[in-house]
Amino acid sequence: MTLAATLFADGAAYERSMGRWSQLIGHQFIEWLDIPAGLAWLDAGCGNGAFTEIVMQHSAPEQVTGIDPSQAQIDYASKRPGCSGVRFATGDAQDIPLPDNSVDAAIMALVISFLPDPDKAARELARVTRPGGTVATYMWDTAGGGHPANPINAAMKALGLSRPGAPHNGAASLPRMREIWQAAGLEDVETRVIDMTVTFPDFDDFWQSNIISTGPLGKALNALAPDQSAALRAKLQQDLCPQGPGPIAYRAFANAVKGRVSKA
Ligand SMILES: C[S@@+](CC[C@H](N)C(=O)[O-])C[C@H]1O[C@@H](n2cnc3c(N)ncnc32)[C@H](O)[C@@H]1O
Repeated sequence: MTLAATLFADGAAYERSMGRWSQLIGHQFIEWLDIPAGLAWLDAGCGNGAFTEIVMQHSAPEQVTGIDPSQAQIDYASKRPGCSGVRFATGDAQDIPLPDNSVDAAIMALVISFLPDPDKAARELARVTRPGGTVATYMWDTAGGGHPANPINAAMKALGLSRPGAPHNGAASLPRMREIWQAAGLEDVETRVIDMTVTFPDFDDFWQSNIISTGPLGKALNALAPDQSAALRAKLQQDLCPQGPGPIAYRAFANAVKGRVSKA
């Protein structure tokens, strides 16, 4: 299993920490794709099925395949009631286990920054998609401050605590996404920023949902010494709840790209 896949070895934990934000922002992404009903989809890096479920709800697909290198994520996705009928399998977006021209839409939701070779993945997505079909991706703009964990990243930085993020964040910028899509031979390439509001009923919910040990952030938070963790918690409480206890709300945003496979 790749390093990136081992970061996400618990589907339920992912759901509590990040899956809910994937779902909220994923609705805007799928509306932007504007893909008709009755088609065949590939969800590459489907994880615990957070976005796959949106495809099922929103796009009335004829068939959906979901692949992810993490068996634990695939196990969770396979039991997700909203993903009934999806063909899930372990697999790598850089070496997709599907024949050429076998789907109408191939997408990767919140995956590109975990790939050592995003260009190869884009070529693979294009290869498995029929002429005229859509290839698309979106990723939190971590470098621009758009990740839902941005307040934690900022607080850790202020306290001098190290925090490894997704290993290949450079692939998540709009210019780089456009470049990767064009280099893969895709046409009519478009990019956009997708915005959402992250909300928590109170600070405790915010803290509990982030200290779950999954993904790069959860792993980093769980590796802190008790005094570092206490200092971070106190700083975040000050930053996010300056008026005292109450709900928390802040902006998160992702970059997205879509293109079409040439009919020529
Ligand atoms: C942040 S999660 C996103 C999951 C899901 N697509 C969503 O929208 O919530 C990143 C996912 O990328 C997967 N991943 C890591 N390396 C991969 C690769 N080489 N090919 C496909 N998926 C990969 C991880 O296992 C993980 O499930």
